[in-house]
Amino acid sequence: MNNDMPPPPQKVIHELTVAYWASRCLQVIAELGVADQLGDVPQSAATLARAAGGLNAQALHRVLRSLSNHGVFVHDGETFAHNDASRLLRSDTPGSMRSLARMMGLKVHWDAYRELDVSVRTGKPGIAEVVDGGLFGYLRAHPEEGRLFSEAMEGKAYSQIGPILETYDFSGFATIGDIGGAGGHLLNAVLGRAPQARGVLFDLPQVVKHARQNPNPRVDYVGGDFFKDQVPPCDAYMMMTVLHDWSDDESVAILNNIKSNAPRTAKILILEGVVQPDARNNFLLDLDIEMLVMTTGRERTRSEWDAVISRAGMRLTRVMPAGAWSSIVEAEIV
Ligand SMILES: C[S@@+](CC[C@H](N)C(=O)[O-])C[C@H]1O[C@@H](n2cnc3c(N)ncnc32)[C@H](O)[C@@H]1O
Repeated sequence: MNNDMPPPPQKVIHELTVAYWASRCLQVIAELGVADQLGDVPQSAATLARAAGGLNAQALHRVLRSLSNHGVFVHDGETFAHNDASRLLRSDTPGSMRSLARMMGLKVHWDAYRELDVSVRTGKPGIAEVVDGGLFGYLRAHPEEGRLFSEAMEGKAYSQIGPILETYDFSGFATIGDIGGAGGHLLNAVLGRAPQARGVLFDLPQVVKHARQNPNPRVDYVGGDFFKDQVPPCDAYMMMTVLHDWSDDESVAILNNIKSNAPRTAKILILEGVVQPDARNNFLLDLDIEMLVMTTGRERTRSEWDAVISRAGMRLTRVMPAGAWSSIVEAEIV
């Protein structure tokens, strides 16, 4: 069969219509910690159900069998074994994605997605229909979920950080800021490559409080609101998947606030996706829907980034692709 043949249209519609079945199975298995109960020896669903605190063995078997069908776990007769994908649902795997799957399964997330039709009618985020204060207001009011969100960002960032370190030379900076840096995963990795530098982790106070529990002695931890509080001066300001959470006006306001206390020679490093106008089969186009539902932001093309950066009195200097879906958009103050 010719691999370039498009799949039959019925198959496309059928599979997309029900894609949430498997997605929900994954989130629930992550939430219930099932992968943590499975070691190197294959186990039956009954054993895993007991180990996970008393689940229904038959239902668990059916959910794990479905996930195996999608390439997560290996089902063989009565038992299930780990594969590389299912190991990412363990809490102790380096680059674990368990928190990401749990976060996507939060009730607030599903409730907001139920409102996607409202977003399409009005252009407003679905989350505004279900909670006050937007995503970050909700996370502030629900500290457990806020912590989960920061951990989820670390799992999400695993595929971004390696390519960023390979692509950009941080060796010339004395002070590197990570603005909206969550737990500091990017900043710690960058400082590992830039032994001359000190770091500034700037995020909302409750997020920084959590990050401080695992301190890096070379980092200053600063809690604040990047719309109105002073961001300490840095030679480079990194913002990874931060501005995509905000509208153009809000993004300009954040950049202006950073600029108001920045050295004129500072570099601004926006570590985000850059949508190609003819993009097909590209993760960013799905991530854009997450932004539509959960935030006031969007994924942007190069010219859309250029417009935001120019409005903030900065100049886009270069765009360096870094990894499968992320780029380094470098800017300087005009
Ligand atoms: C999508 S997360 C990105 C986290 C991290 N940069 C990464 O890519 O893994 C956005 C971050 O912006 C922070 N944030 C949201 N609103 C903020 C505000 N008003 N002031 C400072 N930080 C804020 C959030 O707490 C969160 O850590």
